[in-house]
Amino acid sequence: MSNLDILAITARQELNRVYGTAATLVAAAPGRVNLIGEHTDYNDGYVLPMAIDRAVVMAAVPRDDQQVRLWSVNFGQEAEFSLHEITRDSQASWSNYVRGIAWVLQKAGYPLRGMDAVIVGDVPIGAGLSSSAAIETVAAYIFERLSGFSLTGPERARLCQQAENEFVGMRCGIMDQFVASLGQRDHALFIDCRDLHFRHVPLPEGVAIAVCDTHVSRDLVSSAYNTRRAECEQGAQLLGVRALRDVSLRTFQEKERGLPEPIRRRCRHVISENERVLRAMEALERGDVQTAGALINESHESLRDDYEVSCKELDVMVAAARAVEGVYGARMTGAGFGGCTVNLVAAEAVEAFRRRVAATYREVTGIEASIYVCMATDGVRELG
Ligand code: GLA
Repeated sequence: MSNLDILAITARQELNRVYGTAATLVAAAPGRVNLIGEHTDYNDGYVLPMAIDRAVVMAAVPRDDQQVRLWSVNFGQEAEFSLHEITRDSQASWSNYVRGIAWVLQKAGYPLRGMDAVIVGDVPIGAGLSSSAAIETVAAYIFERLSGFSLTGPERARLCQQAENEFVGMRCGIMDQFVASLGQRDHALFIDCRDLHFRHVPLPEGVAIAVCDTHVSRDLVSSAYNTRRAECEQGAQLLGVRALRDVSLRTFQEKERGLPEPIRRRCRHVISENERVLRAMEALERGDVQTAGALINESHESLRDDYEVSCKELDVMVAAARAVEGVYGARMTGAGFGGCTVNLVAAEAVEAFRRRVAATYREVTGIEASIYVCMATDGVRELG
């Protein structure tokens, strides 16, 4: 039985136990890992994430009134609100993602039905694998289906991002919500974050995607994230463009002398990262894992030195991975300051990778790493 089957069974059973009713709809949305294209989405740039085989599952039954009752298995906590008046909850903050979705959908003109629902997931929380985008996306999907309308993947992603920006208060880009809706099994997802054009990129055979959790909390992340965004906006303004996406590496090299530090380095990261995404996508499409791996390595160096969003533990994890034979590339993934690394590993090297990376990381930091070998999965979907 897969982890998803177990989550679905748990969600159904809990709905019965807590609300005394059978589910009419069960759905799942995945977490994600970003292969390359970090801190580019909010610069209208390119990203290449994939949906992973860890998910948030929701089992629900509609109600005849405007109440929403939620039970979180992971938090062992209930939350309740009325669709007539949606406010933030500081006690059950996990419920703000669902509240935010209801708020944004109604604001966009979609009438919603109330429901009783159970939420359960196995996306590690706070590890940078987008458990929040997963809960937003599955909640949007459930509201759509129970209320009788359906959004396209890009529309749903936009609304989920808006909920996170305006209701939860995190100014994230669109990558996480987009891949939670539109991911595809065995594929990475290339997204042009300006026009939301996307393409599924097949992952080469014989290569595993390993994700290593540093278990370092990402306390700095939201303040630093907003600072970096502001620095990029300033850089775009100084370079006379709408977004950093509009500057080629060559143009940047001609103009960089005129930029103050650290704006110059922030811009250099974003502009070079966009080029790396395009090159990595082409490399993966022709099965050239060596080149894709080298670009992943360069991405880490750029995030560490120019964008300055790595930390000691991420650097240790990356170095430990690169010392293992059969590793094509290793870098920090997600917003940074802790969280996870992503690694492109030859399938036959995976066992050695697990052992050696965990051992080195423990030796240097005293922390026990978690290592997940991830499959690329589909985006949000109904479970039978
Ligand atoms: C977080 C945000 C994304 C993206 C990444 C950095 O995951 O939610 O939108 O900006 O950081 O690439």
